[in-house]
Amino acid sequence: MSSSVKIASSILAADFSRLGDQVKQAEAAGADWIHVDVMDGRFVPNITLGPIIVEAIRCSTQLPLDVHLMIVEPEKFLDAFAKAGANRIIVHAETCPHLHRTLQQMRELGMKTGVAINPATPLSAVEEILPEIDQLLVMTVNPGFGGQKFIEFCIDKVARAKKLIDQSGAAAAIEVDGGIDRSTAPRVVQAGASILVAGNAIFHHPAGISAAIKELRASIH
Ligand code: DX5
Ligand code: ZN
Repeated sequence: MSSSVKIASSILAADFSRLGDQVKQAEAAGADWIHVDVMDGRFVPNITLGPIIVEAIRCSTQLPLDVHLMIVEPEKFLDAFAKAGANRIIVHAETCPHLHRTLQQMRELGMKTGVAINPATPLSAVEEILPEIDQLLVMTVNPGFGGQKFIEFCIDKVARAKKLIDQSGAAAAIEVDGGIDRSTAPRVVQAGASILVAGNAIFHHPAGISAAIKELRASIH
């Protein structure tokens, strides 16, 4: 099970004064994907980056770019992020009143489709749409900042999400984001997650990026 787990390095915790370099280091260290957090100061209380930074990251790596849109009206920006080089786009269910249409738009742009739900959002918010989703992001912190404490009750939510997906015959992978490190990673994988987003645990590890990714992978074996 753990051999197919993907590690997505969240550049939110990287040193932005040498972003290209940090992304290259993560790739060399064996990260599977680069996770890019886009925040608008409206859906979440923080502002980060837009398509031009995604374009710059695209030039620095061959890895798939997993772009997490924590923004209101994400449908207005799908095209720009696709053109900038995103491969997978995640929108929040909380920001999409017409989620089915938004996912169709993403597919038409050739993107893999991701839908995120906040810790307080019930799984029922995505139940109907599961067959249309490539990845269901179960947030394990409240989105907006890196380095927050993992919210314990989300483990049970991951387990219930896994059950729901299996029962419905959908193929969605479960992604987790927030507070993932060597101690929480094995627990979420055990519950059914197969995509681990990690920021601080990778870019702020005292032994460096390469050791950090090795440690994270070892924790789930
Ligand atoms: C939080 C972001 C995360 C963040 C995770 O809103 O979606 O991707 O970078 O950071 P860590 O791994 O440090 O909790
Ligand atoms: Zn994220």
